[in-house]
Amino acid sequence: MSEKIALITGANKGIGFETARQLARTGVHVIIGSRDRAKGVAAALKLQAEGLEVEALAIDVTHLGSIGEAAREVERKHGRLDILINNAGVMLEDYAKKPTEQTLEAWRKTFDANVFGVVAVTQVFLPLLKKSAAGRIVNLSSILGSNTLHSDPASPIYNFKVPAYNASKSALNAWTVHLAYELKDSKIKVNAAHPGHVKTDMGGAQAPMEIVDGAKTSVQLALLGPDGPNGAFIHLGETLPW
Ligand SMILES: NC(=O)c1ccc[n+]([C@@H]2O[C@H](COP(=O)([O-])OP(=O)(O)OC[C@H]3O[C@@H](n4cnc5c(N)ncnc54)[C@H](OP(=O)(O)O)[C@@H]3O)[C@@H](O)[C@H]2O)c1
Repeated sequence: MSEKIALITGANKGIGFETARQLARTGVHVIIGSRDRAKGVAAALKLQAEGLEVEALAIDVTHLGSIGEAAREVERKHGRLDILINNAGVMLEDYAKKPTEQTLEAWRKTFDANVFGVVAVTQVFLPLLKKSAAGRIVNLSSILGSNTLHSDPASPIYNFKVPAYNASKSALNAWTVHLAYELKDSKIKVNAAHPGHVKTDMGGAQAPMEIVDGAKTSVQLALLGPDGPNGAFIHLGETLPW
């Protein structure tokens, strides 16, 4: 049990990929989850070329069959999971449209990946996390999921109303609180992370934060010690309002 095993969903690019790199540098064995197997293998080869201990695993968080197959592979190879980072996510809305003009299809696809996908992956991998000496679950939320800040005209996110994405992260925050309650007497901690507004395909080239910094909150929450929080909403060590 000396080496920790981590699974990061959506780790073939962006914040997930950089989180894989930073976690592997600390000596964690990282499983790079990707819905496209070839993209995951390419990402793993890149980090292996840097001397890091990573492997690729196909997992589409919107397909139960894919999640089950991935869990069976992790169980067969490692027998347990120490860290689960629910990083995969989508933002599908048209920024130019008003909240009432976003399509129902965008709402459904957003919730499928950002909410139901996380719940499904967590349910399927929980038995493996329970075999860890100190399981950690990190849910990649967003400050855009904060209803407290969305209702404050003085807040920096007040004008950023992309409703399906924002509501999906609010729902993810609620799930984090409920899961933390269920796990409060166990060795597992679960927290929601806001990575920052990060330069990725999702965050856009104009985002103020570099990817190297955008991965830090996930890494910190993945490596929390026994005195760390459970059921918190965190950005770089600071607690955010729900
Ligand atoms: N960037 C920001 O400023 C920012 C801010 C706050 C929160 N976040 C959150 O941070 C997380 C990572 O974002 P990012 O900026 O790194 O985004 P990104 O560059 O767009 O990467 C998203 C990742 O999720 C994967 N993914 C999407 N749907 C999936 C599915 N059904 N199954 C498995 N993987 C799937 C993508 O795979 P493909 O390559 O196959 O599409 C990709 O690997 C997301 O949850 C996002 O909401 C980002």
